[in-house]
Parts: sequence; C-alpha cells; structure tokens
Amino acid sequence: MQKIVSFSKRRGFIFLSSEIYGGFSSCYDFGPLGVELKNNIKKAWWDEMIKKHDDIVGLDASILMNPKVWKASGHLTAGFADELVECKRCHHRFRKDFLKKNKCPDCGGELTKPHKFNLMMKTFVGPVEDEAAETYLRAETCQGIYVNFKNVLQSMRQKLPFGIAQIGKAFRNEINPKDFIYRTREFEQMEMQWFCRSKEAPKFFNYWKKERMNWYLSLGIKKANLRAVEVPKQELPHYAKRAVDIQYKFPFGWQEIEGIHNRGDWDLSNHSKHSNEDFKYEGYFPYVIETSVGVDRSLFAFLCDAYQEVKGGRTKTTKAVKEVEILLKLDKSLSPIKVAVLPLVKNKPKLTKKAKEVYQMLKPYFMTQYDEVGSIGRRYRRQDEVGTIFAITVDFDTLEKNDLTVRDRDTMKQERVKIKNLTSFLKEKLEK
Ligand code: GAP
Repeated sequence: MQKIVSFSKRRGFIFLSSEIYGGFSSCYDFGPLGVELKNNIKKAWWDEMIKKHDDIVGLDASILMNPKVWKASGHLTAGFADELVECKRCHHRFRKDFLKKNKCPDCGGELTKPHKFNLMMKTFVGPVEDEAAETYLRAETCQGIYVNFKNVLQSMRQKLPFGIAQIGKAFRNEINPKDFIYRTREFEQMEMQWFCRSKEAPKFFNYWKKERMNWYLSLGIKKANLRAVEVPKQELPHYAKRAVDIQYKFPFGWQEIEGIHNRGDWDLSNHSKHSNEDFKYEGYFPYVIETSVGVDRSLFAFLCDAYQEVKGGRTKTTKAVKEVEILLKLDKSLSPIKVAVLPLVKNKPKLTKKAKEVYQMLKPYFMTQYDEVGSIGRRYRRQDEVGTIFAITVDFDTLEKNDLTVRDRDTMKQERVKIKNLTSFLKEKLEK
C-alpha cells in the first residue's frame, strides 16, 4: 500500500490536496498522469454504456439540487447515517463498525454510546446563511437521473426498458475517511439506472451484474482479484431490495468498488409522492436496476492490479541486475501515455530534430511524450513505470532510411517501422 501511495506521488498520479498546508480532510488531487488515467477510465465506462447499448442515454445533472430531493430519497433520515462513537477522554470520533475493540483506538479511553451521524454534506446557496438557503452536495449522482426520468423519457422518446448513465462528483461527510483514495469525502461516481418492469428486474439484475464483472476483466483486472458478494438483508442500503458488491482484493483486503442494486420503485414512487410529477409509466412505477462505480476506487484497483516489481530488472543486463524495476501493466486503453519518442542520444542535433518532428507528427493522434534525458535504457524504464505502451527510438539509421524502432512495453520486442507508416501502424495496434 505504502509503495503505491509513494509511487502515485512520485510519478504524478495522485497528490494530497492542499499539501503545502498539511493536506485537507483526506482530499486528493489527480496529477498529470492521474487525470489521464481517470479520463481513460471514464471514457471506457461511457463507451461501454452509451456506445455498446442502443437503449442507454447520457445525462449530466447539477450537483446542487432542491433539498426536497434528499427528503424524498430518504437520505436525510437514519437510513443514510453511520453509527458514531466518541472517546470520552480525547474526544476523537470513530465509525462504530470500523472498531475492533470497544475502546478508543487512539488513547484507550472509554467510548460514548453510538448515535446516528448523517452523511449528507450541508451547504448554503445564495447570500443569506439561514435555514431557507440550506441544501446539500449530492451524496449519489443517481438522484439527478430520477428527477429527470420524465424529461429524458419524453425528449428521447424512450420505451421501457431503457437506461440513463451519468458520471459526476458526489460528497459524503464520512466519519473515518481512510485507505488513501478508497474512502474520501469527495469522490466521483459512474452510475447507470436501468428502468424496467418489476417482473423483469431479477433478470436484468443478473444481466448487469455479469456485464459489470466482465467490464473489469476486459480491462485487464485479474480474475483472482475480483469477486461479487451478495449483501446480507440486514446490511442493505435503505433504498435497496437486493444488492451485490463487486469487490477488488486491495492490499488492505477485499473491498467494494461497485454496487449493483435493485432499488425497486423506491425512488420514482417517492419523488412522485413528494413532487407534483407522476412518474408512472403505463400505469405503474418502473423498477430500477442500478450499477454504481466509484471512479476513484476503480482507478485505485486498476493501479494496484497493474503495478509490478521486477526484481533484477526486465532485461537482466548487468547494470540493472541489482535494481527493482517497476512495470505498470495497464490495459492499452487506460494507459495515460500511449507513445514515447526518444532520440537515441541527446547531444546530436540532427537526431533530436528528427525525434521532435516525429513527436509533433504523433501528438494530435495519441497521448505522446518526448524524452531525451538519460540513457536509452533508463528512459525505457521510466516509460515502463507509467505504463507507456510504445517507446519509439530515433537513431542514426533513421536519418538515412526514414525508419525507426518501435518497442512494445509488454514483450519488449523491437520492430523497425517506416516513419510514413508509423501513425497507421500505432493506430492499428492501439485499437481494441
Ligand atoms: N447510488 C448508489 C450508491 O451511491 P454506494 O454503494 O453507496 O451506492 C457506490 O456507492 C460506489 O461509490 C461505491 O461502490 C464506491 O465505489 C463509491 N463510493 C461510495 N462512497 C465512497 C467514498 N466515501 N469514497 C470513495 N468512493 C465511494
């Protein structure tokens, strides 16, 4: 775990938010490579939902909503709260279900009786900070989907069954945020709500569970590190009739990265009750099967799964023999950088000029990096570390023959390719 955390910082994936001020409340920032990886994960999910399925459409609802939404959804009641205990001596607060013993893990002091702590994050809208201006940052993105159910149904002339997908930020005032980016107070979700007839809900539940498991596997997650676990009845969220957690085997154990929920007609019927809108379709409330992924959690899982340490180095050359080399074996669609262009040596102007021309040629098509610092072996290793799929070397033969060496990250095989064919060669290789 510590290795992943320091690697993420060193190579520009994830930084502590407001680090110069000592950080803030378990918030994190995604660095130049982190944001590429995050965008690639979101694109992979969006393509999977929207491009692969004719009957799913997208939405981008606002984070701030009328507070009545959260009353109707049940998030302001005990259902969306964790049990909090406080140490009578040091006054530190803890989530009761995270404690191994019934005493303060920080000072050993006696704990108070648990009370319910609501996770909604309050804020004020407008210039007056009174009760009338109070609302909440959304705790799940899907409420924006439910309140737009009719808008989408009518504007897109949808018929049941169909789905609405959305990606966006969500906020929860977690009592004990922990495990790096695993549990934070600000995070991003990718949620799809599938509206169907109640009779068909069990069938679609199983369909989506399978689809979602396959999505992770298709993006390279190892089968041994992924499992689906039925949530026991007594632990179901307040809105769910049935739930399955998709879990990943993190360095700190098996933990949820996605929830598959049968929400029944909980949301549509409650919003109908609390608003003036009738969300019935052909006389009944549709059921909802939901797939809900945390972007940050899945990114963390993809990072952990791809991270490899190769003792003695990948090439086993004498120089590398004592070193541990890192290889980030991300799927090619997820890797932040697809291509690196490397002049064989730095101090030959003809070589660097040519290499920069090749870099400029590829940049519009692929996320490309130019690197001339250090030995060629060291530069290959730097690229392997961040999962770059192809490293291209411009050498003296390039100047004569207009071809160059393309090195494959996984096989380390090198191939000569003509510059005029390079873009189409890479496009073909990088396509699924
Ligand atoms: N709309 C349903 C819903 O929000 P959830 O199981 O509470 O269900 C879904 O959350 C996913 O959102 C989780 O599987 C997780 O990936 C992510 N998530 C939830 N709370 C989180 C937190 N505090 N930090 C990071 N990700 C979180």
